[in-house]
Amino acid sequence: MVTSKKFWDKTARKYSDSKISDVASYERKIAETQQQLNPEMMMFEFGCGTGSTAIRHAPYVKHIHATDLSDNMIQIAREKAADAGVSNITFTSSTLAEVSVKDASIDVVLGLNILHLIDDRKAAIAKVKRILKPGGLFISSTACMGGSPVRFIKLIAPLARWVGLMPEFYVFTRAELKEEIVSSGFDIENEWFHGKSVESSFIVASSRST
Ligand SMILES: C[S@@+](CC[C@H](N)C(=O)[O-])C[C@H]1O[C@@H](n2cnc3c(N)ncnc32)[C@H](O)[C@@H]1O
Repeated sequence: MVTSKKFWDKTARKYSDSKISDVASYERKIAETQQQLNPEMMMFEFGCGTGSTAIRHAPYVKHIHATDLSDNMIQIAREKAADAGVSNITFTSSTLAEVSVKDASIDVVLGLNILHLIDDRKAAIAKVKRILKPGGLFISSTACMGGSPVRFIKLIAPLARWVGLMPEFYVFTRAELKEEIVSSGFDIENEWFHGKSVESSFIVASSRST
């Protein structure tokens, strides 16, 4: 985890300055998320990066608690929110595993471009389930590299990580991810993907009450 934190702290400014690679898909995700929101809702986001997406959603909910393990990402996120005049987001530096959120207190959890970076994905999804109110939504977008030629990048990943070019990441298929979400107590309401060599799967899942 220290290696990961170092990587993202070092990358934060460059990440903040980088352009969105697929604007149409990003805007579709924003729109489909906002269709689910209302002004009474409490939102939680993990791996929020520099906060750009949380800032887009802030006008549509009551409050957002947005977290990221990188202090530098959170620093930039706070600056961006202040520049945008947004005051209903609380940014904290933390991993999902360590962050303290009351059980059954959240209406919508966002996890965008993050589940493939977490070593214990099952525990992560279980935590999301625990903090969501019954019927609450888990909205995620995840690089699913299993089944694509890109999965062989795993072979050179240790070297790339060693020289600081790549964070730790995990390889699985869209089907495997969906199965993990469903078996953790969610129903999938909507799923689509974009990307060719690496499929990115956007999933809206609702927490089952029983
Ligand atoms: C690929 S970026 C995605 C950022 C943002 N969600 C987006 O879509 O632009 C991944 C982010 O997750 C953070 N991160 C990595 N592992 C994490 C963990 N275990 N808990 C919380 N944040 C984590 C990194 O610091 C980084 O900001």
